[in-house]
Amino acid sequence: MKGPKKIFVCRECGSTSPKWLGKCPDCQAWDSFDEEIVEEKNEKQGIKQSRVTEYSKAELLSELELPNFMRTKTGMDELDRVLGGGLVDRSAVLLSGEPGIGKSTLLLQISSELAKTRRVLYVSGEESKGQLKLRAERLRIKGESLYLQTETDTESILSECERIKPDVIIIDSVQTLCSYKFSSAPGSITQVREGAMTFINYAKTNGAAVFLVGHVNKEGGISGPKFLEHMVDAVLYFEGERTNSYRIIRAIKNRYGSTNEIGVFEMGDAGLIEIPNPSEVVMAERPKNTSGSCAGCVIQGTRPIITEIQSLVAKSVYPTAKRTSDGFDYNRMCLLIAVLEKRMGLKFYENDIYLNVAGGLHLDEPSADLSIAMALISGITDRIISDDIIAFGEIGLSGEVRAVSHIDYRVKEAVRLGFTKIIIPKKNLAKHLSVPKGVELCGVGNIYEVLVHMKTRAAE
Ligand code: TYD
Ligand code: MG
Repeated sequence: MKGPKKIFVCRECGSTSPKWLGKCPDCQAWDSFDEEIVEEKNEKQGIKQSRVTEYSKAELLSELELPNFMRTKTGMDELDRVLGGGLVDRSAVLLSGEPGIGKSTLLLQISSELAKTRRVLYVSGEESKGQLKLRAERLRIKGESLYLQTETDTESILSECERIKPDVIIIDSVQTLCSYKFSSAPGSITQVREGAMTFINYAKTNGAAVFLVGHVNKEGGISGPKFLEHMVDAVLYFEGERTNSYRIIRAIKNRYGSTNEIGVFEMGDAGLIEIPNPSEVVMAERPKNTSGSCAGCVIQGTRPIITEIQSLVAKSVYPTAKRTSDGFDYNRMCLLIAVLEKRMGLKFYENDIYLNVAGGLHLDEPSADLSIAMALISGITDRIISDDIIAFGEIGLSGEVRAVSHIDYRVKEAVRLGFTKIIIPKKNLAKHLSVPKGVELCGVGNIYEVLVHMKTRAAE
């Protein structure tokens, strides 16, 4: 007798196969195939049904009304900024990050703040009530209308949602959800998809907002196939180094705001503390009078952040010189090194090069080129760039320094942090930037022009 049709789906990447495989041919993950039952639909019936059910009619864009999104402040401005100004009702947010980075801590902290005005249900499938209480004590959380449930069964959580009628639901984590309706194990594609779908639907129909915590896979991406990211309105990524206490939240997707914004936090004894002025924190630790260090600026959403770029250039003892880049694109670094070798005759090829952007920031815009190049030049020539100098500009293949966007924001932030010599592309000088007395704007047209702004140790 013919049984139900089965397929096997990779838990990591969603690739399907008619038979079980030990290793996924697409993402190379081992033992990642779960069995799924495929429901076969009678196609004719489907068409018949779709004729009778109501469907959405096309309307003129010009006649549509602007929706009024209700946003609730989470009590953490840094998180609100990433969400686009607060948590939107009827929205689903996926928060992902490495284990131990602070996802549960952050959500418990905002739960207590949200619970001051809204009903919040925090569901943990990973920790016991005792552990949660202990954490809440540590975070000094009271929370009048904050409900805690430790459950993994999707139906039981849904029943509690119907009883409590929360405005905000937090599911920590979506990988622990399990429903008796499906035979596959928790964490399998079916369970994650159906669990997430249940709460997203609940949020949309009941006007609640839902936070889903998602695990990350070996490579650091969001665990499970891409559909989880497509299903939700916003995907936030919580990142940071285990060795330092700074944490950054960035939006990878946001239907209600920009994806450029970042939120900066520090993990302390009593949970996460917001860092509203990240530039100051990053620059406070800057060493004085060392070569290889240059200040630069990166625009994250609406906020310019000043950071320090450090390079270490040391004679190589290896047959092929070593190069690493942390916080800046490796290939772009190699390109800049090639430009400096060719246009300035600097012999980087004999040296190991280590590049690092302080504070765990990622410099992913071309305006960082000039500060990176200056840090590299300073590193190889052992010339010092004074503490009060900052630089931004894009570098072209002939070594020319090209204009950058948002120059006025960058200059303003540099002035606020006390820089007195701001090196900018010559083209940007034409923009009539106003700077206070004592601050000098220096325009550069080509990379070799920056040498005059560095001093040798003898000149100290
Ligand atoms: P957690 O929030 O459980 O991370 P996740 O849910 O992302 O796995 O844990 C965060 C880590 O931070 C944990 O290892 C302990 C530490 N921590 C602090 O340093 N201070 C605190 O106040 C709390 C609650 C946790
Ligand atoms: Mg957790």
